[in-house]
Amino acid sequence: MGKTVLKAGFIGSGFAARFHYNALQHVFSTGVEVTGVYSVAAEEAAQFAAERGIRVYDSMEALIEDSDILHVCTPPVTHEPIVVAVLEKNRNVIVEKPFTGYFGDGSESFSGETFSREEGLKVALDSCRRMLDAEKRSKGRIMYAENWIYAPAVQKEREIIEKTKAQVLWINGEQSHSGSHSLAYGQWKLSGGGSLIGKGCHPLSAAIYFKHVEGRVRNGEPIRPVSVSARTHAMTRMPSFQDAGYLKTHYRDVEDFAIVHVLFEDGTVADLIANELSLGGTNNWIRVNANNHRTLCNMSHNDSMETFTPKDEIYQDVYVVEKTETKAGWSEISPDEGWFLGYQHELDAFYKAADTGCRIESNSKLAADTIATIYSAYLSAERGGQETKVMNL
Ligand SMILES: NC(=O)c1ccc[n+]([C@@H]2O[C@H](COP(=O)([O-])OP(=O)(O)OC[C@H]3O[C@@H](n4cnc5c(N)ncnc54)[C@H](O)[C@@H]3O)[C@@H](O)[C@H]2O)c1
Repeated sequence: MGKTVLKAGFIGSGFAARFHYNALQHVFSTGVEVTGVYSVAAEEAAQFAAERGIRVYDSMEALIEDSDILHVCTPPVTHEPIVVAVLEKNRNVIVEKPFTGYFGDGSESFSGETFSREEGLKVALDSCRRMLDAEKRSKGRIMYAENWIYAPAVQKEREIIEKTKAQVLWINGEQSHSGSHSLAYGQWKLSGGGSLIGKGCHPLSAAIYFKHVEGRVRNGEPIRPVSVSARTHAMTRMPSFQDAGYLKTHYRDVEDFAIVHVLFEDGTVADLIANELSLGGTNNWIRVNANNHRTLCNMSHNDSMETFTPKDEIYQDVYVVEKTETKAGWSEISPDEGWFLGYQHELDAFYKAADTGCRIESNSKLAADTIATIYSAYLSAERGGQETKVMNL
Protein backbone atom coordinates (compact mmCIF):
# COMPACT_ATOMS: atom_id res chain seq x y z
CA MET A 1 0.00 0.00 0.00
CA GLY A 2 1.37 3.42 -0.93
CA LYS A 3 1.87 6.31 1.45
CA THR A 4 -0.87 8.89 1.97
CA VAL A 5 -0.15 11.99 -0.12
CA LEU A 6 -1.00 15.24 1.70
CA LYS A 7 -1.52 18.50 -0.18
CA ALA A 8 0.52 21.40 1.25
CA GLY A 9 -0.35 25.09 0.78
CA PHE A 10 1.95 28.01 1.64
CA ILE A 11 0.61 31.30 3.00
CA GLY A 12 3.46 33.81 2.86
CA SER A 13 6.48 33.65 0.56
CA GLY A 14 9.30 35.16 2.61
CA PHE A 15 12.08 33.82 4.84
CA ALA A 16 10.04 31.29 6.84
CA ALA A 17 8.25 30.00 3.72
CA ARG A 18 11.65 29.25 2.20
CA PHE A 19 12.90 27.20 5.14
CA HIS A 20 9.53 25.44 5.45
CA TYR A 21 9.73 24.50 1.77
CA ASN A 22 13.29 23.17 2.24
CA ALA A 23 12.31 21.17 5.34
CA LEU A 24 9.35 19.72 3.43
CA GLN A 25 11.86 17.88 1.23
CA HIS A 26 12.74 15.80 4.34
CA VAL A 27 9.19 14.64 5.10
CA PHE A 28 9.19 10.84 4.75
CA SER A 29 6.19 9.74 6.87
CA THR A 30 3.77 10.79 4.12
CA GLY A 31 3.97 11.82 0.51
CA VAL A 32 3.67 15.59 -0.06
CA GLU A 33 2.24 17.44 -3.04
CA VAL A 34 2.61 21.22 -2.91
CA THR A 35 -0.60 22.85 -4.16
CA GLY A 36 0.84 26.35 -4.28
CA VAL A 37 1.50 29.64 -2.54
CA TYR A 38 -0.53 32.73 -1.66
CA SER A 39 0.98 35.95 -0.33
CA VAL A 40 -0.03 39.61 -0.21
CA ALA A 41 3.30 40.36 -1.89
CA ALA A 42 2.18 39.15 -5.33
CA GLU A 43 5.56 39.61 -7.06
CA GLU A 44 7.47 37.84 -4.29
CA ALA A 45 4.92 35.00 -4.39
CA ALA A 46 5.27 34.71 -8.18
CA GLN A 47 9.04 34.42 -7.85
CA PHE A 48 8.76 31.91 -4.96
CA ALA A 49 6.42 29.82 -7.12
CA ALA A 50 8.49 30.07 -10.30
CA GLU A 51 11.71 29.03 -8.54
CA ARG A 52 9.99 25.92 -7.18
CA GLY A 53 7.71 25.09 -10.11
CA ILE A 54 4.55 25.48 -8.05
CA ARG A 55 1.30 27.35 -8.65
CA VAL A 56 0.70 30.87 -7.37
CA TYR A 57 -2.80 31.58 -6.04
CA ASP A 58 -4.43 35.00 -6.00
CA SER A 59 -6.97 33.91 -3.39
CA MET A 60 -6.16 32.49 0.04
CA GLU A 61 -9.59 30.85 0.20
CA ALA A 62 -8.93 28.91 -3.01
CA LEU A 63 -5.53 27.75 -1.73
CA ILE A 64 -7.10 26.55 1.55
CA GLU A 65 -9.85 24.78 -0.40
CA ASP A 66 -7.26 22.89 -2.51
CA SER A 67 -4.96 21.90 0.41
CA ASP A 68 -4.97 19.44 3.34
CA ILE A 69 -2.43 21.29 5.44
CA LEU A 70 -1.53 24.99 5.37
CA HIS A 71 1.79 26.56 6.35
CA VAL A 72 1.22 30.00 7.90
CA CYS A 73 4.52 31.80 7.21
CA THR A 74 3.26 35.36 7.62
CA PRO A 75 4.00 38.11 10.18
CA PRO A 76 2.72 37.46 13.73
CA VAL A 77 -0.01 40.13 13.50
CA THR A 78 -1.74 38.08 10.75
CA HIS A 79 -1.61 34.66 12.46
CA GLU A 80 -4.98 34.72 14.23
CA PRO A 81 -7.25 35.55 11.27
CA ILE A 82 -5.40 33.18 8.93
CA VAL A 83 -5.35 30.26 11.41
CA VAL A 84 -9.08 30.73 12.12
CA ALA A 85 -9.86 30.86 8.37
CA VAL A 86 -7.97 27.58 7.81
CA LEU A 87 -9.63 25.83 10.76
CA GLU A 88 -13.07 26.97 9.58
CA LYS A 89 -12.41 24.98 6.41
CA ASN A 90 -11.51 21.93 8.57
CA ARG A 91 -7.90 21.87 7.40
CA ASN A 92 -4.77 21.33 9.53
CA VAL A 93 -2.71 24.46 10.12
CA ILE A 94 1.00 24.82 10.83
CA VAL A 95 1.54 28.26 12.36
CA GLU A 96 4.91 29.90 12.87
CA LYS A 97 5.98 31.37 16.18
CA PRO A 98 4.92 33.53 17.94
CA PHE A 99 1.40 32.04 18.01
CA THR A 100 -0.28 35.46 18.33
CA GLY A 101 0.11 38.57 20.52
CA TYR A 102 -0.67 42.23 21.10
CA PHE A 103 0.15 44.53 18.21
CA GLY A 104 -1.02 47.90 19.46
CA ASP A 105 -4.27 49.81 19.16
CA GLY A 106 -3.90 50.74 15.49
CA SER A 107 -3.34 54.43 16.26
CA GLU A 108 -0.54 56.46 14.65
CA SER A 109 0.74 57.47 18.07
CA PHE A 110 1.00 53.91 19.43
CA SER A 111 4.30 53.21 21.15
CA GLY A 112 5.53 49.90 22.51
CA GLU A 113 7.18 51.84 25.32
CA THR A 114 4.09 53.30 26.90
CA PHE A 115 0.98 51.16 26.37
CA SER A 116 -0.71 49.39 29.30
CA ARG A 117 0.79 45.89 29.66
CA GLU A 118 -2.43 44.82 31.38
CA GLU A 119 -4.37 45.70 28.21
CA GLY A 120 -1.73 43.93 26.06
CA LEU A 121 -2.08 40.77 28.15
CA LYS A 122 -5.88 40.84 27.90
CA VAL A 123 -5.86 41.29 24.10
CA ALA A 124 -3.24 38.55 23.60
CA LEU A 125 -5.18 36.09 25.79
CA ASP A 126 -8.44 36.86 23.94
CA SER A 127 -6.67 36.19 20.66
CA CYS A 128 -5.38 32.82 21.97
CA ARG A 129 -8.89 31.90 23.15
CA ARG A 130 -10.39 32.61 19.71
CA MET A 131 -7.76 30.41 18.07
CA LEU A 132 -8.28 27.57 20.59
CA ASP A 133 -12.08 27.84 20.17
CA ALA A 134 -11.73 27.68 16.38
CA GLU A 135 -9.65 24.50 16.81
CA LYS A 136 -12.32 22.93 19.06
CA ARG A 137 -14.96 23.57 16.37
CA SER A 138 -12.76 22.24 13.55
CA LYS A 139 -11.79 18.83 12.22
CA GLY A 140 -8.36 20.37 11.61
CA ARG A 141 -5.69 20.80 14.29
CA ILE A 142 -3.19 23.50 15.19
CA MET A 143 0.46 22.54 14.78
CA TYR A 144 2.59 25.16 16.50
CA ALA A 145 5.84 25.50 14.54
CA GLU A 146 8.15 25.79 17.55
CA ASN A 147 11.15 24.08 16.02
CA TRP A 148 12.99 23.76 19.36
CA ILE A 149 10.44 21.10 20.42
CA TYR A 150 11.56 18.91 17.52
CA ALA A 151 15.30 19.54 17.86
CA PRO A 152 16.82 16.05 18.28
CA ALA A 153 18.44 17.10 21.60
CA VAL A 154 15.06 18.25 23.01
CA GLN A 155 13.33 15.05 21.86
CA LYS A 156 16.14 12.96 23.42
CA GLU A 157 15.59 14.81 26.71
CA ARG A 158 11.84 14.12 26.38
CA GLU A 159 12.69 10.41 26.16
CA ILE A 160 14.91 10.68 29.28
CA ILE A 161 12.16 12.43 31.29
CA GLU A 162 9.56 9.88 30.14
CA LYS A 163 11.64 6.73 30.70
CA THR A 164 13.23 7.72 34.01
CA LYS A 165 10.09 9.45 35.40
CA ALA A 166 12.34 12.37 36.31
CA GLN A 167 11.21 15.30 38.39
CA VAL A 168 12.45 18.42 36.60
CA LEU A 169 13.44 20.95 39.26
CA TRP A 170 15.16 23.82 37.49
CA ILE A 171 15.46 24.61 33.79
CA ASN A 172 17.54 27.39 32.30
CA GLY A 173 17.99 28.37 28.68
CA GLU A 174 18.75 31.11 26.22
CA GLN A 175 18.32 32.36 22.71
CA SER A 176 20.47 35.31 21.82
CA HIS A 177 22.54 36.79 19.01
CA SER A 178 23.79 40.12 17.72
CA GLY A 179 20.43 41.31 16.42
CA SER A 180 17.73 40.66 13.85
CA HIS A 181 18.25 41.57 10.17
CA SER A 182 14.55 42.18 9.55
CA LEU A 183 13.63 45.85 9.58
CA ALA A 184 10.04 44.96 10.57
CA TYR A 185 11.52 43.51 13.75
CA GLY A 186 11.90 46.14 16.42
CA GLN A 187 8.47 47.76 15.94
CA TRP A 188 5.98 46.55 18.51
CA LYS A 189 2.99 46.99 16.20
CA LEU A 190 4.50 44.44 13.77
CA SER A 191 6.31 42.02 16.07
CA GLY A 192 4.24 42.16 19.28
CA GLY A 193 7.32 42.88 21.42
CA GLY A 194 11.10 42.51 21.34
CA SER A 195 13.63 39.91 22.48
CA LEU A 196 11.24 38.31 24.93
CA ILE A 197 8.67 37.30 22.31
CA GLY A 198 10.94 37.10 19.24
CA LYS A 199 13.68 35.00 20.82
CA GLY A 200 12.54 34.13 24.34
CA CYS A 201 9.56 32.21 22.94
CA HIS A 202 11.95 29.38 21.92
CA PRO A 203 13.57 28.46 25.29
CA LEU A 204 10.32 29.32 27.09
CA SER A 205 8.29 26.91 24.96
CA ALA A 206 10.94 24.21 25.44
CA ALA A 207 10.91 24.71 29.23
CA ILE A 208 7.09 24.57 29.37
CA TYR A 209 7.17 21.53 27.07
CA PHE A 210 9.48 19.59 29.42
CA LYS A 211 7.10 20.30 32.32
CA HIS A 212 4.10 19.31 30.13
CA VAL A 213 5.88 16.02 29.35
CA GLU A 214 6.72 15.39 33.02
CA GLY A 215 3.09 15.94 34.06
CA ARG A 216 1.81 13.77 31.20
CA VAL A 217 4.01 10.90 32.46
CA ARG A 218 3.01 11.39 36.10
CA ASN A 219 -0.78 11.77 35.88
CA GLY A 220 -1.75 12.49 32.29
CA GLU A 221 -1.98 16.26 32.85
CA PRO A 222 0.58 18.91 31.82
CA ILE A 223 2.36 20.79 34.64
CA ARG A 224 1.64 24.44 33.85
CA PRO A 225 3.35 27.78 34.51
CA VAL A 226 1.46 29.71 37.24
CA SER A 227 3.50 32.88 37.72
CA VAL A 228 6.36 34.84 36.22
CA SER A 229 8.81 37.56 37.28
CA ALA A 230 10.58 39.42 34.47
CA ARG A 231 12.84 42.36 33.64
CA THR A 232 13.29 43.85 30.15
CA HIS A 233 15.84 46.45 29.01
CA ALA A 234 16.63 48.39 25.82
CA MET A 235 20.40 48.72 26.01
CA THR A 236 21.15 49.66 22.40
CA ARG A 237 18.73 52.59 22.81
CA MET A 238 20.33 53.91 26.03
CA PRO A 239 21.90 57.37 25.59
CA SER A 240 25.02 55.89 27.19
CA PHE A 241 25.27 52.98 24.68
CA GLN A 242 28.60 53.07 22.82
CA ASP A 243 28.05 51.61 19.37
CA ALA A 244 31.17 49.75 18.23
CA GLY A 245 29.36 48.73 15.01
CA TYR A 246 28.85 45.01 15.66
CA LEU A 247 25.35 44.92 17.17
CA LYS A 248 22.14 45.80 15.30
CA THR A 249 20.60 49.01 16.64
CA HIS A 250 17.42 49.63 14.64
CA TYR A 251 14.86 48.73 17.32
CA ARG A 252 12.24 51.45 17.65
CA ASP A 253 10.11 50.68 20.70
CA VAL A 254 10.99 47.17 21.91
CA GLU A 255 13.44 45.64 24.38
CA ASP A 256 16.75 44.04 23.37
CA PHE A 257 17.26 42.10 26.61
CA ALA A 258 14.84 40.03 28.71
CA ILE A 259 15.20 37.74 31.70
CA VAL A 260 12.29 35.67 32.98
CA HIS A 261 11.80 33.52 36.10
CA VAL A 262 8.86 31.10 35.72
CA LEU A 263 7.17 29.27 38.60
CA PHE A 264 5.29 26.06 37.72
CA GLU A 265 2.28 24.72 39.58
CA ASP A 266 4.39 22.00 41.28
CA GLY A 267 6.77 24.60 42.78
CA THR A 268 9.63 24.02 40.29
CA VAL A 269 11.18 26.85 38.24
CA ALA A 270 12.77 27.96 34.96
CA ASP A 271 15.09 30.91 34.19
CA LEU A 272 15.29 32.05 30.59
CA ILE A 273 17.25 34.76 28.82
CA ALA A 274 16.76 36.35 25.39
CA ASN A 275 18.77 39.20 23.91
CA GLU A 276 20.20 40.94 20.84
CA LEU A 277 23.49 41.72 22.59
CA SER A 278 25.53 38.56 22.01
CA LEU A 279 28.38 38.36 19.49
CA GLY A 280 29.81 35.12 18.11
CA GLY A 281 26.78 33.49 16.47
CA THR A 282 23.38 32.42 17.72
CA ASN A 283 23.17 30.87 21.21
CA ASN A 284 20.43 28.24 21.37
CA TRP A 285 20.66 26.09 24.49
CA ILE A 286 18.55 24.71 27.31
CA ARG A 287 19.63 22.91 30.51
CA VAL A 288 17.51 20.56 32.59
CA ASN A 289 18.37 19.95 36.24
CA ALA A 290 16.26 17.01 37.44
CA ASN A 291 16.19 14.85 40.57
CA ASN A 292 17.96 12.02 38.72
CA HIS A 293 19.93 13.62 35.87
CA ARG A 294 21.26 16.81 34.35
CA THR A 295 21.20 17.56 30.60
CA LEU A 296 22.51 20.31 28.35
CA CYS A 297 20.79 20.56 24.95
CA ASN A 298 23.22 22.58 22.87
CA MET A 299 21.39 23.26 19.60
CA SER A 300 23.69 25.99 18.32
CA HIS A 301 26.43 26.67 18.35
CA ASN A 302 28.00 23.37 19.32
CA ASP A 303 31.29 21.56 18.66
CA SER A 304 29.99 18.73 16.48
CA MET A 305 32.37 20.14 13.84
CA GLU A 306 35.18 22.70 14.05
CA THR A 307 37.11 24.43 11.30
CA PHE A 308 39.94 26.96 11.01
CA THR A 309 40.70 29.38 8.20
CA PRO A 310 43.20 32.26 8.35
CA LYS A 311 41.10 34.68 6.25
CA ASP A 312 37.38 35.43 6.08
CA GLU A 313 37.34 35.60 2.26
CA ILE A 314 38.51 32.00 1.89
CA TYR A 315 35.09 30.95 3.22
CA GLN A 316 33.10 33.57 1.31
CA ASP A 317 30.96 30.86 -0.36
CA VAL A 318 30.84 28.59 2.70
CA TYR A 319 27.94 28.85 5.16
CA VAL A 320 29.48 28.45 8.61
CA VAL A 321 26.93 29.11 11.34
CA GLU A 322 24.00 31.50 11.90
CA LYS A 323 24.90 35.14 12.53
CA THR A 324 28.61 34.74 13.05
CA GLU A 325 30.41 38.09 12.57
CA THR A 326 33.52 36.49 11.08
CA LYS A 327 34.54 33.19 9.51
CA ALA A 328 38.26 33.78 10.18
CA GLY A 329 39.98 31.80 12.92
CA TRP A 330 38.42 28.75 14.55
CA SER A 331 34.66 28.30 13.97
CA GLU A 332 32.13 25.86 15.36
CA ILE A 333 30.79 25.29 11.85
CA SER A 334 27.46 23.45 11.69
CA PRO A 335 27.36 20.51 9.25
CA ASP A 336 23.53 20.74 9.16
CA GLU A 337 22.05 23.60 11.19
CA GLY A 338 18.45 22.81 10.21
CA TRP A 339 18.88 19.28 11.59
CA PHE A 340 20.21 20.48 14.96
CA LEU A 341 17.41 23.05 15.20
CA GLY A 342 14.66 20.55 14.44
CA TYR A 343 13.13 22.06 11.29
CA GLN A 344 13.10 18.81 9.33
CA HIS A 345 11.86 16.68 12.24
CA GLU A 346 9.14 19.23 12.96
CA LEU A 347 7.51 19.01 9.55
CA ASP A 348 7.79 15.23 9.36
CA ALA A 349 6.07 14.99 12.77
CA PHE A 350 3.30 17.38 11.66
CA TYR A 351 2.59 15.47 8.44
CA LYS A 352 2.59 12.18 10.35
CA ALA A 353 0.11 13.67 12.87
CA ALA A 354 -2.11 14.94 10.04
CA ASP A 355 -2.09 11.47 8.48
CA THR A 356 -2.52 9.30 11.57
CA GLY A 357 -4.20 11.61 14.09
CA CYS A 358 -1.39 10.92 16.59
CA ARG A 359 -0.42 13.35 19.36
CA ILE A 360 1.13 16.67 18.34
CA GLU A 361 4.08 17.44 20.63
CA SER A 362 4.07 21.18 19.83
CA ASN A 363 0.35 21.77 20.13
CA SER A 364 -2.02 24.67 20.72
CA LYS A 365 -1.87 24.20 24.51
CA LEU A 366 1.89 24.75 24.45
CA ALA A 367 1.45 27.74 22.10
CA ALA A 368 -1.18 29.34 24.38
CA ASP A 369 0.85 28.71 27.58
CA THR A 370 3.83 30.38 25.91
CA ILE A 371 1.86 33.50 24.90
CA ALA A 372 0.15 33.72 28.33
CA THR A 373 3.58 33.53 30.04
CA ILE A 374 5.17 36.10 27.70
CA TYR A 375 2.49 38.77 28.10
CA SER A 376 2.31 38.17 31.88
CA ALA A 377 6.10 38.64 31.83
CA TYR A 378 5.68 42.01 30.06
CA LEU A 379 3.21 43.02 32.79
CA SER A 380 5.70 41.88 35.47
CA ALA A 381 8.47 43.90 33.80
CA GLU A 382 6.23 46.99 33.78
CA ARG A 383 5.89 46.47 37.55
CA GLY A 384 9.66 46.25 38.06
CA GLY A 385 9.79 42.44 38.14
CA GLN A 386 6.85 41.78 40.48
CA GLU A 387 5.58 38.18 40.52
CA THR A 388 2.59 38.05 38.12
CA LYS A 389 -0.01 35.33 37.63
CA VAL A 390 -0.11 33.32 34.37
CA MET A 391 -3.65 32.49 33.21
CA ASN A 392 -4.60 28.92 32.26
CA LEU A 393 -6.46 29.14 28.95
N1 LIG B 1 10.99 29.34 13.73
C1 LIG B 1 11.93 30.19 13.37
O1 LIG B 1 13.12 29.96 13.59
C2 LIG B 1 11.55 31.43 12.60
C3 LIG B 1 12.52 32.17 11.92
C4 LIG B 1 12.12 33.30 11.20
C5 LIG B 1 10.80 33.69 11.17
N2 LIG B 1 9.87 32.96 11.87
C6 LIG B 1 8.46 33.38 11.89
O2 LIG B 1 7.89 33.22 10.59
C7 LIG B 1 6.87 34.20 10.38
C8 LIG B 1 7.16 34.93 9.07
O3 LIG B 1 8.41 35.57 9.19
P1 LIG B 1 9.35 35.82 7.91
O4 LIG B 1 10.72 36.06 8.46
O5 LIG B 1 9.15 34.76 6.90
O6 LIG B 1 8.76 37.19 7.35
P2 LIG B 1 8.88 37.75 5.86
O7 LIG B 1 8.60 39.20 5.95
O8 LIG B 1 10.15 37.27 5.23
O9 LIG B 1 7.67 37.01 5.06
C9 LIG B 1 6.34 37.24 5.39
C10 LIG B 1 5.47 36.86 4.21
O10 LIG B 1 4.08 36.96 4.59
C11 LIG B 1 3.36 37.66 3.56
N3 LIG B 1 2.18 38.27 4.16
C12 LIG B 1 2.10 39.34 5.01
N4 LIG B 1 0.82 39.53 5.40
C13 LIG B 1 0.07 38.57 4.78
C14 LIG B 1 -1.30 38.24 4.78
N5 LIG B 1 -2.17 38.93 5.51
N6 LIG B 1 -1.71 37.21 4.01
C15 LIG B 1 -0.83 36.50 3.25
N7 LIG B 1 0.50 36.78 3.21
C16 LIG B 1 0.94 37.77 3.98
C17 LIG B 1 4.38 38.65 3.03
O11 LIG B 1 3.98 39.11 1.78
C18 LIG B 1 5.63 37.77 2.99
O12 LIG B 1 5.60 36.96 1.85
C19 LIG B 1 6.87 35.09 11.62
O13 LIG B 1 5.87 34.69 12.51
C20 LIG B 1 8.26 34.85 12.23
O14 LIG B 1 8.29 35.05 13.64
C21 LIG B 1 10.23 31.84 12.55
